[in-house]
Amino acid sequence: MSSGTASSLSFETRLDAARQPAGGSDGPPIVELRDVHKSFGTQPVLGGINLRIARGRTTVIIGRSGTGKSVLLQHIVGLIRPDRGEVFIEGRRISHLPERELVEIRREISFVFQLNALFDSMTVAQNVAFPMVESGRARHMSAARLRELVRTRLELVGMAGFEHKRPAELSGGEKKRVALARAIAVEPPPKVILYDEPTAGLDPQRSDVINRLVRRLQDEFHVTSVVVTHDMRSAAAVGDRILMLWNGRFIADGSLLELASVKDEHVRRFLEGRAEPSDIIEKPI
Ligand SMILES: Nc1ncnc2c1ncn2[C@@H]1O[C@H](COP(=O)(O)OP(=O)(O)OP(=O)(O)O)[C@@H](O)[C@H]1O
Ligand SMILES: [Mg+2]
Repeated sequence: MSSGTASSLSFETRLDAARQPAGGSDGPPIVELRDVHKSFGTQPVLGGINLRIARGRTTVIIGRSGTGKSVLLQHIVGLIRPDRGEVFIEGRRISHLPERELVEIRREISFVFQLNALFDSMTVAQNVAFPMVESGRARHMSAARLRELVRTRLELVGMAGFEHKRPAELSGGEKKRVALARAIAVEPPPKVILYDEPTAGLDPQRSDVINRLVRRLQDEFHVTSVVVTHDMRSAAAVGDRILMLWNGRFIADGSLLELASVKDEHVRRFLEGRAEPSDIIEKPI
């Protein structure tokens, strides 16, 4: 991140930099989106996204509900393909790869889905072990080692002792924490972790634990993280860089300090939690 004085000008500069080809002081980006467009039917969602994510950093994407944050994350793992534009992982163009080749790429990227995506028929332990088992990597470790991996990851998210429960027996926040444990219960550690609303539904203290975990994974495993969140406290705690998505494009990009000085009215309203005038319905109830 630049350490220049915070001003709206620095945002313009940064937005331009994000559009430049790979290179620069951070080296080639680990994830890159070039001019990504996506519509669903007649609804435009992403309108030409350019994003270069530096290796080993934590990038936070904020934006109002329905603006395309989850859709953007799904482009990074090839779950959604762009209508136009390209997505690269470590310089490899994945947006046009056949599904079987994507499987290999997805092994290096963990995705914590917004709705957790736990398997109801499996226990917590089976859910957490699933990526290792499904990818065949569990075959190369003893059952005891796999159990230990599951146990340590559940411990990290404060869910030790829940191994034998099923998702239906957990609270919303507990499910979220199991989904997080699953994302990090892989060896070798993932190169990239995509978190979709990792602290939604958690109390402030649990959120703090998760935020610290995101930082720790970055420090210890040099994981590159992309965190989608509405939670500005979490954005501030984990983000090296925060981008705001609005109407299919990024309208802010910088550190928290830089964001605080942006003049754009949509950014200001989002940060201050003030509704957009067009969202306020004044009709009698
Ligand atoms: N598979 C899909 N088919 C059709 N429309 C979709 C699909 N996925 C997302 N959308 C639409 O795209 C828009 C953006 O969705 P997305 O889930 O990315 O929003 P979001 O920014 O993550 O919102 P939230 O903060 O509520 O999670 C929404 O209007 C949604 O209805
Ligand atoms: Mg979402």
